[in-house]
Amino acid sequence: MNAVVRPSRRIAGTASVPGDKSVSHRVALLGALADGLTEVQGFLEGEDCLGTLKAVQALGAEVARKGPGHYVIQGAGLEGLSEPGDVVDCGNSGTTVRLLVGVLAGQPFATVLTGDESLRRRPMDRVVEPLGRMGARFVGRRGGARLPLAIAGARPLHPIRHVSPVASAQVKSAVLLAGLFASGPTSVVEPARSRDHTERMLTAFGGDLQVDGQTVTIVPGRRLTGRLCRVPGDISSAAFFLVAGAAAPDGDVTIRGVGVNPTRTGALDILESMGARVGVSTREGDGEPMADLRVGPSRLHGTEVGGPVVPRAIDEIPILAVAAACAEGPTVVRDASELRVKESDRIRALASELGKMGVAVEERPDGFRIPGRPSSGAAPFRGACVSSWGDHRLAMALVVAGLLADGPTMVEGIDCIATSYPDFVPTCRALCGDDAVEVVG
Ligand code: S3P
Repeated sequence: MNAVVRPSRRIAGTASVPGDKSVSHRVALLGALADGLTEVQGFLEGEDCLGTLKAVQALGAEVARKGPGHYVIQGAGLEGLSEPGDVVDCGNSGTTVRLLVGVLAGQPFATVLTGDESLRRRPMDRVVEPLGRMGARFVGRRGGARLPLAIAGARPLHPIRHVSPVASAQVKSAVLLAGLFASGPTSVVEPARSRDHTERMLTAFGGDLQVDGQTVTIVPGRRLTGRLCRVPGDISSAAFFLVAGAAAPDGDVTIRGVGVNPTRTGALDILESMGARVGVSTREGDGEPMADLRVGPSRLHGTEVGGPVVPRAIDEIPILAVAAACAEGPTVVRDASELRVKESDRIRALASELGKMGVAVEERPDGFRIPGRPSSGAAPFRGACVSSWGDHRLAMALVVAGLLADGPTMVEGIDCIATSYPDFVPTCRALCGDDAVEVVG
């Protein structure tokens, strides 16, 4: 499927975004490992998180859908998961596979995981290496560095102290989940703080977790207990409309009920450093802070992005690149080589596709430089035919660029948007008018 996107001067209104992807994955996994019932409201019904629910069902947890985004999970308990009858397909989702590998490392049975073409290209050695030291055994392509991957778990696992070379919440979570099955405390030390949803949720489920700066330690021995979880809106989804509202000549966008966990709000800090006016009204959350976010048309200027803000904004870099192209003066992103191993190589993909829209992105090993909008006063993007590279965040960023362009844009391959934001196109239409985005076969 492709999208025909027409320029929209006015991008305005109030919307909500679907449940947070990271939180939804974790509820499914911890719900499966807990004793008793976990009820979840606002679960993200995108392909990635539905894949995690299917995986925990294959491992013996019972899942019942009660309504949109509303599920009840009957946990199997820490000792109750069972060997799946077939290969578990993790689709496009890095979070599904890496967190699941952490759980499977501690199971007394073997499992085989695979994924789609994009996921089979992504590195798994970052989790296989520490989990191997804990005693799990792996067989997979490139010595276990690529899917498909067979995991023979062990119990108890050896406790380790893992000093991770990357600030990755997926690596941290995999090791902490495996630590639930270890014979002593297991620690992960990160080079910079990554999202902390696993730490918050493990604690809420009754786990014994200690956080000391950039070191997180799980002390095994306590059982996990099912509970009620309300998933906040996903700031990574909200970011598309916040940038659209800030960059459109006539923008005024409010997104309700967005998760504003400080380990996830790097995009808000970056947008503010670019001169965007983002209003944040905090609301009561449930384990995760929540807020309504409002942004109006802003005179954006270029900025420098690097250091600890990068892991706090890693999934938002594609849409921040769109903001950078609308800003006066250059924007430089550095320390972001992780972008090369996401659903696509996002540095190359942005340079290629924004290039087709007239933006001269200078590709660098760990980021890029974007020169900023033309001084002539022309639109920041030229309407063009561009490709999503099968990457949901690139597809959505290109749709927003199309809304801000000087003529119609065709975004090819928008099916991937369903992995994280099935209602993206309807929400675009609600904020920009029905003609703004048309889906064609
Ligand atoms: C995620 C962690 C991040 C992020 C991904 C979701 C998570 O990946 O890019 O979309 O839910 O833990 P890394 O851990 O590889 O940085």
